[in-house]
Amino acid sequence: MSGFFITLDGIDGAGKSTHLAFMQTWLEEHGVDAMFTREPGGTPLGENLRGLLLDPAYQPCADTETLLMFAARAQHLHEVIRPALADNRWVVSDRFTDATFAYQCGGRGIAAEKIALLENWVQDDLRPDMTIILDVPLEVSLARIEKSRDKDRFEQEPADFFTRVRAAYLQRAAEHPQRYAVVRSDRELEAVKHDIAAILSGCLNTWRTRSGA
Ligand code: TMP
Repeated sequence: MSGFFITLDGIDGAGKSTHLAFMQTWLEEHGVDAMFTREPGGTPLGENLRGLLLDPAYQPCADTETLLMFAARAQHLHEVIRPALADNRWVVSDRFTDATFAYQCGGRGIAAEKIALLENWVQDDLRPDMTIILDVPLEVSLARIEKSRDKDRFEQEPADFFTRVRAAYLQRAAEHPQRYAVVRSDRELEAVKHDIAAILSGCLNTWRTRSGA
């Protein structure tokens, strides 16, 4: 794998869309060939699974939900992520396996060991080079979710679900500080962008050193 793999994650309402757009502009300006993708989704099959997973018409049990997330991920890795990395490209994924640890383990109570097992199965030793966790206090997240017109199945969850999800993200980041950067996104936009730019700059240095450029 010679590309660079970044994932952006965090509770619903943390402001991923705004900052993904900024990341795209920053990387373009710095001459980085990056492809942007998302989970669940990223492939035709995965986008169909996303539709099923987010549709409030279905009530998958926690095991089904977890397995469908990984089914979509396996296809995403096979069809999109691994080929792009092998082609020396950067991949920026809007959510990845940290979301499964946060939502299905933290939120739903699936054992972390089971998720780790699926992670090893589907990813082998592939892990993101950098994961940015956008973090906001629960009230901010809930207020932003409240504004969305058609709430998806996750957005309809109660506040205590998101409390657990947020705690799971922060705990993972604290356990592996070298791979995670937690960015508080309930600040002035320019301050958040400044932090993200510094992280991307660090990634670029790492990648250049690694690839001998
Ligand atoms: P979003 O991409 O618009 O944030 O919506 C995706 C939703 O799916 C979000 O509520 C988090 C949830 N999700 C999981 O529960 N587990 C996962 O592994 C992934 C990738 C997403």
